[in-house]
Amino acid sequence: MYWKKALAAAVFFMLGMLQMGCGSSLDHKSESLGREEEEAEHRIVVGFSQLGAESDWRSENTESMKSSFTEENGYTLIFEDGQQKQANQIRAIRMFIQQEVDYIVLAPVTETGWDTVLQEAKDAGIPVIIVDRKVDVSDDSLFTCWVGSDFELEGKKAAEWLNQYALAKGLASGDIHVVNIQGTKGSSAQIGRTKGLADAAAANGWDLMAEVIGDFTRAKGKEVMESLLKQYDNINVVYCENDNEAFGAIEAIEAAGRKAGPDIAGGEIMVISFDGVNEEAIRYILEGKIICIAECNPLHGPRVQAIIELLEEGGKPEKWQYVDEEIYSANETVKSLMIDGMEYKVTILTQKDRE
Ligand code: AHR
Repeated sequence: MYWKKALAAAVFFMLGMLQMGCGSSLDHKSESLGREEEEAEHRIVVGFSQLGAESDWRSENTESMKSSFTEENGYTLIFEDGQQKQANQIRAIRMFIQQEVDYIVLAPVTETGWDTVLQEAKDAGIPVIIVDRKVDVSDDSLFTCWVGSDFELEGKKAAEWLNQYALAKGLASGDIHVVNIQGTKGSSAQIGRTKGLADAAAANGWDLMAEVIGDFTRAKGKEVMESLLKQYDNINVVYCENDNEAFGAIEAIEAAGRKAGPDIAGGEIMVISFDGVNEEAIRYILEGKIICIAECNPLHGPRVQAIIELLEEGGKPEKWQYVDEEIYSANETVKSLMIDGMEYKVTILTQKDRE
């Protein structure tokens, strides 16, 4: 491995220098340097290309990866933040290939455009594990496996929650005037969640008034909601493709003198969201400002670690590894959902969940 050899040469040179002018304490230092070098030799080197830092979910995800791939666990982690740009992520992967890492882990910003660089990794004999969002490549053998969420199922759960709520409250399908604040265009999370809502709107006859990109950020969620409120005066549901967008949208709703809540008939605007990773999301749910959240689980570090351990033992991981996720609400109107013949219980949150 190129960088390990370079490090070994540097350490060897230093040891030589130390021996030339040495005393006994220097001997001791050189011994411990040698031990460190030996330990580093045995660590598994993982290059992780994270797509950015746009949301609370992403911060949790980065933290989960960093705390799995520690030196204590036997890893050297090379972390690269793509800052939402695919070009940065491609550059990072090429750097990992040059560094001859043992594994490449990629959290891709969008689905398409990965064929060439993943072919380069394959040619270099480096296994690639895709995490969180998917890649859309012509040849699935370009990556070893994928682990993440079923984003379309998340979207179906959120939309079916709305459907069951409308039925329980006797709301006519034409009374649902919904806008969608979408995530990053072309990302799996956006594609799946957008489809979940669009299909349900078509099936149930809801008025899906607008689909606007909110980039999964609070600032963009607020900005987009401000302009949607000016454009349409009859919005009564906003489907935000993550919690940060929802936090921003709620700020915009309140700044416009409206109320975020489930009483659509009484003029409130119902906010639906995804993720559910932090205290702020739980607080909004308990206050009824967000009516339901389809969980998106960010704790992929131990999952990717288990995949690498299996590969190290010569095992073959499942190609597609979907994570089980819940749907949360503090409103007891809807207790369970049937989707494609499967029942999903709604987890009803109470004040205790905040403690
Ligand atoms: O890909 C997962 C999505 O990306 C999360 O829902 C969102 O918060 C994040 O930025």
